[in-house]
Amino acid sequence: MLAKLLPLPLPLLLLLSCVACHTQSLQLINCNATQLLALKDVTTLSSLRLYNCSWEQQKLKNAIFLRFNQLLSLKLERSQLNSLEDYALHGLARLQHLSLAKNNLSVIKSWSEEPLAALTSLDISFNALSRLPANGLEQYPNLQLLDLSHNRIEHLEPDCFYNLSHLKHLHLQYNQLQLIAVTYFHGLHRLSSLSLQHNRLKQVEATSFESNTHLRSLRLEHNLLEDLQFLKDAGLARLIHLNLSRNSLEQLPPSVFSKNFELQDLDLSYNKLKGLLNNSFIGLESLERINVSHNYLEHIAADALRPLSTLLQLDLSYNRLNSLPEDLLHDNNQLKQVDLSSNQLNHLHPALLHQLTHLTRLNLARNHLEEASWLQQLAPGLNRLALRVDLSSNRLQSLNLSSLIFFEQVQLSDNRWNCAWLVKHMLRTPPTALNFARSWPMLSAWSVQQLLSIKGIDCFDGQQNRSIVLLDVSAARQQAAPDCDCQESSNELYTLTPPLTWPRIRTDRFDSRSVIIWMLAAIALAFSGLRWGQRFMDRKERERKLKQNQDKQQLIKVEA
Ligand SMILES: *[C@@H]1O[C@H](CO)[C@@H](O)[C@H](O)[C@H]1NC(C)=O
Ligand SMILES: *[C@@H]1O[C@H](CO)[C@@H](O)[C@H](O)[C@H]1NC(C)=O
Ligand SMILES: *[C@@H]1O[C@H](CO)[C@@H](O)[C@H](O)[C@H]1NC(C)=O
Ligand SMILES: *[C@@H]1O[C@H](CO)[C@@H](O)[C@H](O)[C@H]1NC(C)=O
Ligand SMILES: *[C@@H]1O[C@H](CO)[C@@H](O)[C@H](O)[C@H]1NC(C)=O
Ligand SMILES: *[C@@H]1O[C@H](CO)[C@@H](O)[C@H](O)[C@H]1NC(C)=O
Ligand SMILES: *[C@@H]1O[C@H](CO)[C@@H](O)[C@H](O)[C@H]1NC(C)=O
Ligand SMILES: *[C@@H]1O[C@H](CO)[C@@H](O)[C@H](O)[C@H]1NC(C)=O
Ligand SMILES: *[C@@H]1O[C@H](CO)[C@@H](O)[C@H](O)[C@H]1NC(C)=O
Repeated sequence: MLAKLLPLPLPLLLLLSCVACHTQSLQLINCNATQLLALKDVTTLSSLRLYNCSWEQQKLKNAIFLRFNQLLSLKLERSQLNSLEDYALHGLARLQHLSLAKNNLSVIKSWSEEPLAALTSLDISFNALSRLPANGLEQYPNLQLLDLSHNRIEHLEPDCFYNLSHLKHLHLQYNQLQLIAVTYFHGLHRLSSLSLQHNRLKQVEATSFESNTHLRSLRLEHNLLEDLQFLKDAGLARLIHLNLSRNSLEQLPPSVFSKNFELQDLDLSYNKLKGLLNNSFIGLESLERINVSHNYLEHIAADALRPLSTLLQLDLSYNRLNSLPEDLLHDNNQLKQVDLSSNQLNHLHPALLHQLTHLTRLNLARNHLEEASWLQQLAPGLNRLALRVDLSSNRLQSLNLSSLIFFEQVQLSDNRWNCAWLVKHMLRTPPTALNFARSWPMLSAWSVQQLLSIKGIDCFDGQQNRSIVLLDVSAARQQAAPDCDCQESSNELYTLTPPLTWPRIRTDRFDSRSVIIWMLAAIALAFSGLRWGQRFMDRKERERKLKQNQDKQQLIKVEA
């Protein structure tokens, strides 16, 4: 039956559960050793969690868990433990999972006379470990997961993982390692994932991973690596995921990935790469995602991406590219997502995207593109209905809109649109998939206090910069209505109703000398049935008023 518990003080929280009648778990929060020793019937407990408990001298006494001999899982977390006596874990012969996370341990030991042969996972993360002694883990021969992350480890003794031949997952992230020596991971034949991110690694010795032939995931991001020579020598033929983001790589050695045949994800973002050469990616025949964003790329060899025939995602954003070779993507016909945003591209060759029949996302935002005729020459078999293109923040002046209307979405805001061209095309109802506009704060005359966010388009007209404001008057009316008592003071509303006073545009980015107000078609419906709306819709009245203002402002009105 359930463990009998002493009457316990309030802060002590108990959680008892019976799964299949023999496995019971107990959780004690804010407890102390006296309470632990007073627990009865503990031999049936299979899982025990002690959280924020206090221990005499912040130390765990020898054999304190001797009576808990059926325990499979023990967690002693966030309890200010400075140390464990040498045999503190004695008697836990069946223990499979042990966590000592979030304490203040500075050494790691076996803490048991006999090997804890059943232990498969050990978590000592968030402690104060600064070194791992040789053979310190030899009493845990069957460990599969070892979490030493968030400590202060600066170096590892040779052979510190020596007998852990079953280890599959090793977490060493957020430590202070500067070097990976050949001896560190020697003999970990079953190691499948190794996390080394957020250290201070400058160097990885040549054959450091030679015996880790089963390694699938290697995380090295947020380090200080300048060189990848170790990849050429190491036998990482089964690696699937390699993260080298946020290091100091300036170049890729020739054929550096030539042994990583199974690699699927490669992250090289936030480095200092200046170029990609024709031999940079040789051997990556299974690669699906590559990220070279946030580097200093200025040139890419025409056949740099040729080996990547299975590539699905390519991210080259935030670099310094001003042109791309015409046949750069000719062998990557599986590509679905291409991100070239935030570069300095001033044109794209019409043939560049011609092979990409699976393309769904194309991001070219924040470049210097002046024309987009290449949009008419996308692959004939491409499903345009599933394609999203971002061309915002470029230097486009006009576009062939009829070639875009079948796309799922096209972002076009913040370009150098020619006003005459724009007005001509906006007079036809634009397809909803095309978005020219950006959001714009505007002081509205309808509701004096309110600052409306409206949509606007900037355009350029010879000497002048203009702004077209897309005004959805129905929205403005709905905002104004709750503020007023419309039946009584409808006369007052007349004075607030445009076009008596036109809204003032806040000078935002432009010196907007002239403002073209363009009203959306929905106006007619939204205003019918309202007396003051009828007057508002009186076109003659409006035109008369407008003429008075025409030296400064123009109105283009679209009827439904
Ligand atoms: C442990 O906690 C109980 C209840 O809070 C308290 O009565 C007892 O004195 C504590 N024992 C020690 C050694 O601190
Ligand atoms: C943890 O225990 C200390 C006393 O040992 C107490 O002051 C603190 O409030 C406890 N924290 C939590 C989260 O229970
Ligand atoms: C952590 O342990 C070190 C010695 O190992 C000690 O100097 C320090 O005071 C301890 N910190 C706390 C919060 O107990
Ligand atoms: C560690 O491995 C060595 C060599 O494989 C072996 O002789 C030794 O008994 C092992 N030690 C333990 C504690 O398993
Ligand atoms: C690489 O690591 C960074 C930072 O931890 C993370 O944001 C990114 O998603 C990782 N890359 C991949 C491909 O998982
Ligand atoms: C790569 O380019 C160099 C010159 O930059 C050339 O000598 C070499 O033959 C090219 N290699 C391949 C595989 O195209
Ligand atoms: C590339 O890395 C950047 C920064 O880590 C991230 O924002 C972006 O989503 C990544 N791209 C891909 C395709 O994973
Ligand atoms: C615009 O695109 C359509 C469809 O792609 C094409 O038929 C037409 O000739 C193009 N017009 C111009 C002026 O290029
Ligand atoms: C128009 O805008 C461009 C780019 O924002 C700016 O360089 C130029 O000085 C502006 N011209 C006038 C007349 O305001």
